Amino acid sequence: MSNKIQIFDTTLRDGEQVPGCQLATEEKITIARELEALGVDVIEAGFPISSPGDFLSVIGISRAVKEPVVCGLTRAKQEDIDVAAEALRYAKRGRIHTGIGSSDVHIKHKFKSNREQVLEQGVWAVQYAKSKGYEVEFYAEDAGRADLAFLAQMIEAVIKAGADVVNIPDTTGYCLPHLYGKRIQYLFDNVSNIDKAIVSVHCHNDLGMATANTIEGLLHGARQAEVTINGIGERAGNTSLEEVAMILKTHQDLGLYTDIKSEKIYGLSKLVSKMMRMPVQPNKAIVGSNAFAHSSGIHQDGFLKHAENYEIINPADVGVNSSSIVLTARSGRAALKHRLEVLGHKIEGQDLDVVYENFLIMADEKKQVNDQDLEVLAVNIPVLAR
Ligand code: KIV
Ligand code: ZN
Repeated sequence: MSNKIQIFDTTLRDGEQVPGCQLATEEKITIARELEALGVDVIEAGFPISSPGDFLSVIGISRAVKEPVVCGLTRAKQEDIDVAAEALRYAKRGRIHTGIGSSDVHIKHKFKSNREQVLEQGVWAVQYAKSKGYEVEFYAEDAGRADLAFLAQMIEAVIKAGADVVNIPDTTGYCLPHLYGKRIQYLFDNVSNIDKAIVSVHCHNDLGMATANTIEGLLHGARQAEVTINGIGERAGNTSLEEVAMILKTHQDLGLYTDIKSEKIYGLSKLVSKMMRMPVQPNKAIVGSNAFAHSSGIHQDGFLKHAENYEIINPADVGVNSSSIVLTARSGRAALKHRLEVLGHKIEGQDLDVVYENFLIMADEKKQVNDQDLEVLAVNIPVLAR
């Protein structure tokens, strides 16, 4: 089995479903081009039957990108598959992503059906999509809560019907990481033709475990990860692309890799956030504004002695210019002295004690002390110290 993990980006489909994040076709094409430059393997460009705009976006993206596979989502319905096939006609490599519910709760309360019927409809959808001449990916919706034996039966049947990729979504973000990993392992152990398809993981973040679940799935043999930039997506979001890419890069001992050009991550995170009008939380891993900011005295002192004391990722590896030292009332002398030196003020000994005392008073009042404030403090030493 190859150790390369295919990155399937669904920012423009699962991500774009978020209220307020809708994009115009031109904006989607801009992001798709950047995703191509980032090195993703698959771009899920939209859900073509959902609106004329999405249909046109899938056409536009199919024309605009060369390297990644372009994918369109469908339900297991003839009209959806016909429209997706039409929208993908300019793609160098197109993929139809079709599927149906696999958990009893979805089968009973969403489809008002039974296991036999949904299985039959899933198999039919794969065969029909395959007849259009595209790659076919099958999603077993809500696989995270499905009966395992039935899930295995469904996956075996759709692979037999021609599915090239089988997606095992934790649609509701319900699974615990070790149990999601076990689910994937169960499929490898119990689906006789599993080696004929790529297993894909698609996790939601309702319990904050989307990334952990995705990594567990990969460790148990899945070779495609479905992700979004900044982790945007339905409800609490999807697994974030930047987290998966940097986990695999940081933990090379796992023996898995992606083709993501990590130094492009930060720029694309900013672009997506701006275009989708969706701010990134400051403490978001990898791309949050505090991800490389050090604010407490102990951390600042350790960081200034040796960056690796407090940083496991070099900011330049994800396209962030430099780490930052934030000066607050929790900062120590070392950080203050360092910043003053950067600004051209070499202050030591008793003078530094005075500046530090005044700095603490100012920081308590202002919360954060900026370079201009430091200039004022530095210039006023003679008056204050003598
Ligand atoms: O979360 C999910 O199950 C999905 C499918 C449509 C793939 O987004
Ligand atoms: Zn999803």
